Amino acid sequence: MFAHPLDDSAELRPLEPWRAAEFADYCVRDLPNLSPWLPWAEKMVEVDAARDWLRLFAEGTAADGRRIFGIWDAGKLVGGTMFRTFETRFATCEIGVWLAPEAGGRGLITKAAGHMIGWAVEERGINRVEWRCEPANTRSAAVAERLGMTREGVLRGAFPTRGTHVDVELWSLLADEWRARA
Ligand SMILES: CC(C)(COP(=O)(O)OP(=O)(O)OC[C@H]1O[C@@H](n2cnc3c(N)ncnc32)[C@H](O)[C@@H]1OP(=O)(O)O)[C@@H](O)C(=O)NCCC(=O)NCCS
Repeated sequence: MFAHPLDDSAELRPLEPWRAAEFADYCVRDLPNLSPWLPWAEKMVEVDAARDWLRLFAEGTAADGRRIFGIWDAGKLVGGTMFRTFETRFATCEIGVWLAPEAGGRGLITKAAGHMIGWAVEERGINRVEWRCEPANTRSAAVAERLGMTREGVLRGAFPTRGTHVDVELWSLLADEWRARA
């Protein structure tokens, strides 16, 4: 019902709990692309788990906290974005993203994340937007760089995944930097 166009055929919309089956189906299709970087994807192939997770985001939205969005291309769910955190008390948030390879190379994620940053900064008074990725995830880091973010450094052993604790790159963009680019 409420959609933001990303190009001629793709759009960003809220990903609500009633879309759990569609989200689970997307996670099944795109698991090889997602699971190396996003451990939650393996659980979301089950519709009930997907619904429970989307409900947490719906509750987050109601509490003005975390939010989740989907990217549909020609009516098919091909990816998504989230405010993994959204903290108006501190004027900070963190964005997360994922996209099926067949929808890549068009800047859909950069445009979706840019729209989220514009809303967070201009409408909600967010001052600091964060982005976290593993150092080996060069495609994710490339989006952060394309958005004008600064790589602040590496949080050592900060993310438990694949039976170990991996390093995490921390990127950020401040409101003034966003406005200067706009
Ligand atoms: C990270 C991920 C979402 C990036 O997707 P992506 O398609 O590379 O990112 P974008 O949609 O912004 O597209 C960028 C590409 O479109 C191109 N592009 C075309 N038009 C563009 C435009 N108007 N604006 C920006 N980029 C544009 C860019 O040059 C770039 O091309 P490249 O693939 O040759 O480098 C994707 O690789 C993914 O889902 N990975 C698995 C999950 C994951 O790692 N998530 C992040 C965890 S931290």
